[in-house]
Amino acid sequence: MACGEYGEGKMTEPNEIIKEILSYFNNKSKNNKLKALVTAGPTREYIDPVRFITNKSSGKQGYAIARSFRDNGFETTLISGETNLSPINGVKFISVKTAEEMFKETLNNLPVDVAVFSAAVADYKIKNFNDEKIKKVENLNLILEKNIDIISHVSKHNELRPKLTIGFAAETNNLYENSLKKLEEKNCDWIIANDVSNKEIGFDSDDNEVSIFYKDNSNEKLNKMNKSLIASEIVKRVITKLN
Ligand code: CTP
Repeated sequence: MACGEYGEGKMTEPNEIIKEILSYFNNKSKNNKLKALVTAGPTREYIDPVRFITNKSSGKQGYAIARSFRDNGFETTLISGETNLSPINGVKFISVKTAEEMFKETLNNLPVDVAVFSAAVADYKIKNFNDEKIKKVENLNLILEKNIDIISHVSKHNELRPKLTIGFAAETNNLYENSLKKLEEKNCDWIIANDVSNKEIGFDSDDNEVSIFYKDNSNEKLNKMNKSLIASEIVKRVITKLN
């Protein structure tokens, strides 16, 4: 080995390697006219200049999906809330903080062939936002008002709707019922659902386990695996659907 270690080893058969390389470049050229948009990470809703409410989300699954689109030749845009992850080479990266910014940037970057909305968008923003830092008081009342539902707006838009609109559902209970409800109410083609009460997967973990619910009422489960493998399984299905 280049690192100085030695021992018994086995290389993949040269024919297999060539097959992989050919399929990689064939996919690249086949899909390079297709456009993908991915939202990822959490949004922040500011209470005052130094405080905000947010959702739990590492952004890992969304970033992995954007990377997989890029690897498969898609012209890819990633719109991300604040995460610890770095932008991805070859992917147009747009950093946002609030749901409102994410909404505007999403509209600015449509139309696309496929959009995957994996972001954990805060459902509410603060109505009584304070321009100045709020001083400590005994009881502080925040008034929350509903944020726009980005995916619903896009999926119900006559001109802007991508051919394939894919939502995520983070559920702690009734995964099946809630996902089917979201599929219909958000007018999605697919909902990718994960059970966020399971500590072994989701959020900060590198692994995930998801169920995909399709518009035709079928569904399938992708068993626990690395988020990058989940991403390539999803993108593989997108390519089949779009071609
Ligand atoms: N979503 C969105 N805009 C919002 C809220 C959610 O685009 N304001 C998208 C998410 O990116 C995800 C899907 O909608 O693709 C489902 O998000 P989720 O938080 O699971 O659902 P909610 O609509 O917020 O419903 P609830 O919190 O009641 O489960």
